[in-house]
Amino acid sequence: MAILAPSILSSDMSKMSEAVHLMEKAGISIIHLDIMDGRFVPPITFGAPVVKGLRKNTSLLLDTHLMVVEPEDQVEQFIDAGADYITIHIETTNHPNRILTRIKESGLKAGIALNPATPLNTLTEPILDTVDFILIMSVNPGYGGQSYIPSSTKKIENLKEIITEGNYQIDIAVDGGIDRNNIEEVSKAGATIIVVGSAIFASPDPVKEAMYIRSLIEN
Ligand code: DX5
Ligand code: ZN
Repeated sequence: MAILAPSILSSDMSKMSEAVHLMEKAGISIIHLDIMDGRFVPPITFGAPVVKGLRKNTSLLLDTHLMVVEPEDQVEQFIDAGADYITIHIETTNHPNRILTRIKESGLKAGIALNPATPLNTLTEPILDTVDFILIMSVNPGYGGQSYIPSSTKKIENLKEIITEGNYQIDIAVDGGIDRNNIEEVSKAGATIIVVGSAIFASPDPVKEAMYIRSLIEN
């Protein structure tokens, strides 16, 4: 059983709170927010002030995926904005453990994201002892609507093994290129939080599609 976390990146970003309200109608509990700074990835999306605005408009959990360089300069703003989960990329800092610890001290859930080319052996013990979830990127970050990288499934399985063997309480999140056709494969491999963007928001009826995709993994 896994939880669906819709990414609103592929919705009309001038109407983000409408997209969130549609997901409330679909019975969703977590919204995935893609924060891009134009440096770690080429596009610039939005920052903490927008998260603060969304926070006032919904009680759904807000999962902020920080695709930004120097995340140590950003996390305080997202904590103050009312994010519930903060994910940083392991490729963006020499001090992942310090930032993850800071996120947890504020009572939020802390995640670490790995790009497709970043191996699992970067997840050293101090990180495994600290994180609440690990986000496996199944596309190269920066854009919605890309294709799922097939080797991601094996990576999820290998990560699940590491977590089980070490007896860690860590969720596996997966993000990128997931739709109604491959979500069961991702869930069976061991993902417990599954991000879906364009498959929901580029569909003619996002509420219906989100409910259908949920039914494939949440039962
Ligand atoms: C990609 C983002 C994803 C993206 C997923 O950099 O992190 O969250 O919105 O979109 P799809 O589901 O279209 O790949
Ligand atoms: Zn994301």
